[in-house]
Amino acid sequence: MTEQTERSLILVKPDGFRRGLTGEVIRRIEAKGYTLAALSVLTPTREQLAAHYAEHEGKPFYEPLLDFMASGPVAAVVIEGQECIKGFRSLAGATKPTEAAPGTIRGDLGRKWAGTVDENIVHGSDSPESAAREIGIWFPSL
Ligand code: PPS
Repeated sequence: MTEQTERSLILVKPDGFRRGLTGEVIRRIEAKGYTLAALSVLTPTREQLAAHYAEHEGKPFYEPLLDFMASGPVAAVVIEGQECIKGFRSLAGATKPTEAAPGTIRGDLGRKWAGTVDENIVHGSDSPESAAREIGIWFPSL
């Protein structure tokens, strides 16, 4: 990794994994020019999720979000590339699938589902500090 290269933690959430969209998400990441540094398929534990979403504890969507994220396997991916944190968030699109622009992962592939949680296919780190923290949670040996 060069000085300008950064890493981001991506999750293909249970809805994306269940719908067979992992390959499509990775295809878009690679087509953009980012590389994969690590990849793992796992069903998250409550402990991992509580650490990952610690900043949202107490918010109304926190418990439903943890239930949703623990509902099945996810693909955890570390990507690498210049400004890939911001770049992946552009690829992902707005948090709510109904507000995400066409051309983005959520805009093209997501829609509103029943329930309080936005099932929005992917997560991507929002800053270098979050990326370092999140990579430590999902890939402790990296
Ligand atoms: S906030 O309210 O600004 O702190 O929320 P935000 O940082 O945009 O997103 C928080 C994560 O929770 C997921 N999520 C929701 N957020 C807000 N409202 C609802 N109803 C909701 N449902 C789920 C959202 O996708 C963010 O998770 P990640 O994993 O980062 O996508």
